[in-house]
Amino acid sequence: MTRVAPQRVLLVGFMGSGKTSVGRELADRLGWRFVDFDEAVEAELGATVPEVFERQGEARFREVEARVAGRLLRERRVVLGSGGGWAAVPGRLADVPPGTAAFWLKVSPEEAIRRVGREPGKRPLLDRPDALDEARRLLGERSMLYAEAHWTVDTEGSAVEDVTARILEILAPEHLDSDLE
Ligand code: S3P
Repeated sequence: MTRVAPQRVLLVGFMGSGKTSVGRELADRLGWRFVDFDEAVEAELGATVPEVFERQGEARFREVEARVAGRLLRERRVVLGSGGGWAAVPGRLADVPPGTAAFWLKVSPEEAIRRVGREPGKRPLLDRPDALDEARRLLGERSMLYAEAHWTVDTEGSAVEDVTARILEILAPEHLDSDLE
């Protein structure tokens, strides 16, 4: 069977699923670059994500996020950490360019809230007293779309290194096969 080695890895999933921390570790292990969609949007707009939401609104954030993502998804030897809402649009994951290996980092709403609680003020959508209910609602809406990723990795109770190792196990054979082409 001919298998194509991925040119880029895309991590999707809810806020607090570990996209950024796993992405950095994975990029390090692959000797690739790591780029976080949120950071790329922040660089483009010269403002933090909460500032963009507050001053320009979520719609503006989504517009720039889509544009930035389209650009990054053409790059090679890169691990991409998407924002939690990026893959939650119908058709997004079906449309990723060939050569993209997409992983859904799965997390429960309870664990997500515990993790994002360690970085207060960073996630405008969960900056509310009923954050857990909102996380449950959003995950309920989004899970079917995240599930369109090529692979799902459950991160519940797992360290960053373990999640990274599981992704590397999946990727390794493809890299090896590509050397045989
Ligand atoms: C969002 C997730 C955030 C950020 C923004 C909106 C979402 O990224 O893009 O606050 O809609 O889930 P992280 O998933 O990296 O926290």
